[in-house]
Amino acid sequence: MKHFLTIRDFPKQDIEKFLDRALEIKRERKILDVLKNRCAVLIFEKPSTRTRVSFEVAVRELGGYSIFMTPKDSQLGRDEPLKDTARVISRYAHLMIVRTFGQNKLEELAEYSTIPVVNALSNEFHPCQVMSDLLTIYERTPDFSRLKIAWVGDGNNMANSWINAATLLPFKLTISCPKGYEPKKELIEEARSLGANIYFTYDPKEAVEGADYVNTDVWASMGLETDLSKRKEIFRDYQVNEKLLSLAKEDVRVMHCLPAHRGEEITDDVIESEYSIVWDQAENRLHMQKAILEWLFS
Ligand code: CP
Ligand code: NVA
Repeated sequence: MKHFLTIRDFPKQDIEKFLDRALEIKRERKILDVLKNRCAVLIFEKPSTRTRVSFEVAVRELGGYSIFMTPKDSQLGRDEPLKDTARVISRYAHLMIVRTFGQNKLEELAEYSTIPVVNALSNEFHPCQVMSDLLTIYERTPDFSRLKIAWVGDGNNMANSWINAATLLPFKLTISCPKGYEPKKELIEEARSLGANIYFTYDPKEAVEGADYVNTDVWASMGLETDLSKRKEIFRDYQVNEKLLSLAKEDVRVMHCLPAHRGEEITDDVIESEYSIVWDQAENRLHMQKAILEWLFS
């Protein structure tokens, strides 16, 4: 049984062929029958615009249909154990797409499920987003070995998935976060042991210097909003603005998984500028997720 819980579940040797396939799916807006008459159950414990809509459309364009559930309208909200939910849904449906809190919840679902489980965001990882972001880069600059990709801001689920992505492709990943908000050392060390080229600095200017792509994300992820006023102080120097970007390559591109908080992690000027490729990133969720589902069912 194949699951897609982190980018590390994806085989490195297939990555370029896979990106080409995703590009083909995108160019031809392919309608496929990989999920013909199959049902995907989406279980979302956190809000979503892009992930929900792009997955529901993706499932439909692969011939299947979806059912959307939240804890509010299911027994999950009344403490039915995850392992029971996994076993029951496996008897009806063909795929579970899950947005939740701890990665351990996804792992438990996968352990008890007899159908593929896809991580639609957890506190620790956001693999579908970063796979889509790789596609957004690949369609512009296919030679990853020449690229410096910077991560500026919180060492969150997106940063962690970028660290995993650096084990698949030969780009240089430079991460800059404030003290106390770094990604886990062990995750970086493990990625390095698998060949990832990762550099960490507390200085956002150093991270962005000469970068081809600059990535950021909200300062307080879903569930951490009460911390925001404190974080606004701590993250102030990590805002992606014109001044910071002036240190990057002249044709730098700015990435953000969205939703963005203009005036916090990114300025309105920058997100609306010619440097910004955030709408392509959002679009590519659809095409990449079709490719991921095709891979899971192949
Ligand atoms: N980028 C992303 O996952 O967006 P949503 O929270 O809207 O799904
Ligand atoms: N890091 C953000 C990503 C949102 C798509 C969060 O977890 O809220």
